[in-house]
Amino acid sequence: MKLDFSKPLFVLAPLAGYTDLPFRSVVKKFGADLTISEMISSNALVYESAKTYKMLEKSPLEDPYFVQIAGGDEEVVKKAVEKLNAIDGIDGIDLNCGCPVPKVVKQGAGSALLKDTAKLARIVETIKKHSNKSYTSVKIRLGFDEDRAVELAKVLEDAGADFITIHGRTRSGRFKAPVDYDSIKAAKEAVNIPVIANGDIDTPDKARWVLENITPDGVMIGRGAVGKPWIFYQLKEGAHKIDPAIKKRIVLEHFDQMIQFYGEYGAVLFRKHLHTYTKGMSGASEFRKAVNEVSDPAAMRQMIEEFF
Ligand SMILES: Cc1cc2nc3c(=O)[nH]c(=O)nc-3n(C[C@H](O)[C@H](O)[C@H](O)COP(=O)(O)O)c2cc1C
Repeated sequence: MKLDFSKPLFVLAPLAGYTDLPFRSVVKKFGADLTISEMISSNALVYESAKTYKMLEKSPLEDPYFVQIAGGDEEVVKKAVEKLNAIDGIDGIDLNCGCPVPKVVKQGAGSALLKDTAKLARIVETIKKHSNKSYTSVKIRLGFDEDRAVELAKVLEDAGADFITIHGRTRSGRFKAPVDYDSIKAAKEAVNIPVIANGDIDTPDKARWVLENITPDGVMIGRGAVGKPWIFYQLKEGAHKIDPAIKKRIVLEHFDQMIQFYGEYGAVLFRKHLHTYTKGMSGASEFRKAVNEVSDPAAMRQMIEEFF
């Protein structure tokens, strides 16, 4: 088995629009133990959408690698799993039960599954039964409107999930409500499968606090890694300030990977990353305005060379 739960696992969270192959491969170099694709619609997988298939691609560095699917219909999820079965290099399938977006919830997917535990269990059982991958995992929130984390964790354990990740907010809490780490702890203590803690873990100190006080089997970091892909290195090796020359190399490498993966349009997609990489730097707001006007890769690369 590729995942070693005898020590805390450091996981990069799936973030739609951010944790694509270029970003994941940069993060992976800093020591994330597990990387996961962006959320993939099981419908889109079944219809073999070219854009969706591109989102499944991984960097050779990503080993282990999981694909996260969203779906609210057992038959569609089963067919999506069968599509993934034909693709090598995927070690696990993670089911998204946290997405709060109304379009996803209306289809009975994402966080909607937190309201219907019977259906949730059937979907997890379907993945477990039909997947040829080593792992079936589930990413949940504490509940839809109210905290049901303990009950949900038990349902998922019984349904055969190999481990779960808990984002310590309800769906109503979206991305801003305070994270309830004690609820994650209660859920962890109620089951025998590994539980990964997630939500607002954005510094090495915060990660250490969570690991010591909540004692989960690992931590998952999302927004804390955007603009700071080296956070996994800091976590594992102790906190170090990032040297500006190294930061420049990382930003350029990330940019080059974007162009390689997306072609010229990668430059436009890289603007949002430049916004976070420049956080707190002097002249950042002028630089951001300027990059928003640039879509030519050579011109953007030159600007990065000069600014960082
Ligand atoms: C822009 C954005 C996109 C996200 N996309 C996904 C996704 O595709 N799948 C998923 O399970 N969670 C997604 N999430 C939720 C994160 O994985 C994570 O649970 C949440 O951001 C809390 O962790 P953090 O504070 O470390 O970011 C997304 C969050 C954000 C902010």
